[in-house]
Amino acid sequence: MKEHWDEIYAALDVDELTWYEEIPEPSIRLLSKCHIDKDESILDVGAGASTFIDYLVDQGFKNIIAADISEIALNKIKERLGKEKASLVRWIVDDITGPVHIQDMRNIAVWHDRAVLHFLLEKNQLKVYLSTLKKVIKKKGYVIIAAFSLKGAKKCTGLDVKNYDQDMLAKFLGEDFKLLEYFEHTYYMPSGQPRPYIYTLFQKT
Ligand SMILES: C[S@@+](CC[C@H](N)C(=O)[O-])C[C@H]1O[C@@H](n2cnc3c(N)ncnc32)[C@H](O)[C@@H]1O
Repeated sequence: MKEHWDEIYAALDVDELTWYEEIPEPSIRLLSKCHIDKDESILDVGAGASTFIDYLVDQGFKNIIAADISEIALNKIKERLGKEKASLVRWIVDDITGPVHIQDMRNIAVWHDRAVLHFLLEKNQLKVYLSTLKKVIKKKGYVIIAAFSLKGAKKCTGLDVKNYDQDMLAKFLGEDFKLLEYFEHTYYMPSGQPRPYIYTLFQKT
């Protein structure tokens, strides 16, 4: 998987990626519903080269963690941000299906995942993802998950994906997480083609 993602990020400019957002508006919308202080931790799992990190830095969040299996992806954000701003983010190269660093984190106030969970198809991958999330998230912490919706694509970058709706995500997270909000969002790829997503916001009870 690491090679797969590294190859893609090495071959394409960020704005050519079929998930590139100039402004990650739906994530920003859900983050605005989370009542957190600027010094609380936000973990972006599978951050890739996402502009969500730039947004968090610009908003003055002080505990931003960008994690991805691909170092090449994270380096693209670092370059874009420049040295000074990049130093405000904690950069973690890790695999969420076998985490070495993420599992030691605690008190995460917001877990943000856009377009990562839907690549996990094996039972054990999902089990590790969930147990890691539960370990690191703080009480009353928030979980934002965006995945391809049931109407969405069945593949991305040549990989099969699992499509979700809000009920499936609620079932996956289990009864310790309350669904606060959800919406469908049609993302348009750089080619102009639509890609329907489901966005969800949960809170740990
Ligand atoms: C479709 S991209 C989305 C990137 C970013 N969240 C965004 O919205 O722009 C999926 C990302 O998940 C990362 N990824 C895939 N499998 C992963 C894993 N097992 N652990 C951590 N990151 C992973 C990829 O490297 C890639 O950056």
